[in-house]
Amino acid sequence: MKTAMSELTADAIARDLGTEVVGCVVEYRAEVASTMDVARAAARDGVADGWAIVADVQTTGRGRFGRRWVTPPGVSIAVSVVLRPNERERCWLSPLAALAAARAIEAEIGLPAALKWPNDVLVNDRKVGGVLVEADGDSAIVGIGINVNLDPAAHVETAGASSLSAEAGAPVSRLAVLRRLLQEMDGLWLRLRRGDAIGAEWAARLQTLGQAVEVKTGSVVVVGVAEAVDEVGALLVRDATGHRHRFLAGEVTMRR
Ligand code: BTN
Repeated sequence: MKTAMSELTADAIARDLGTEVVGCVVEYRAEVASTMDVARAAARDGVADGWAIVADVQTTGRGRFGRRWVTPPGVSIAVSVVLRPNERERCWLSPLAALAAARAIEAEIGLPAALKWPNDVLVNDRKVGGVLVEADGDSAIVGIGINVNLDPAAHVETAGASSLSAEAGAPVSRLAVLRRLLQEMDGLWLRLRRGDAIGAEWAARLQTLGQAVEVKTGSVVVVGVAEAVDEVGALLVRDATGHRHRFLAGEVTMRR
């Protein structure tokens, strides 16, 4: 584990990063509304694939289902990356980002990181990060939020989420986790672009599989066992009557 106080600057993030695409250009802002909006505007301006925006604070960070995502000063990673996937690649961006985040966390804090379908990042079964992918024409904006040194007790608005430092019991370097995240994303993106599959590595981290779950999409709620994910990452859930349901999106709650 590295020291906690390494400061995020565009230069420190990008220096000798060694990536081919992801993080080819890194912009840093002290405060933005949401890195998703900054990245979307940049994508429309024609920035290169892999262009990334990192912010210390987000005043209106957002999560899935339109939820608020809290990014207080000095303690979180908030990053959005512009990519331009083809049809085959598009559905794998969210798994790619979640897998990259899990690997980066594991490498930096030395604790196993798992995933809750589709893209919540967990340490010790508690959520420490999440992924939001938004399409904009041919571009996709891949947003990743990780609670690094956030004190969960001081931020009740994170709704039960934890942080890397809370789970590791020591401060964690945002810079080290962020750089590793961009490197892992780059490696996976290059593989995906070559036509390789990354689904098996993502699925291997899904602690959702084999569990009793409740899946909610809009007003529909299905209770059953999460059996598998398919060739596009959809979740397959078998209910008590034996019927199999397929979800491309949804909110999963574990039923222990
Ligand atoms: C979720 O778990 O609901 C997804 C959270 C995604 C948060 C990140 S932080 C960087 C980017 N900017 C945002 O406003 N959201 C994403």
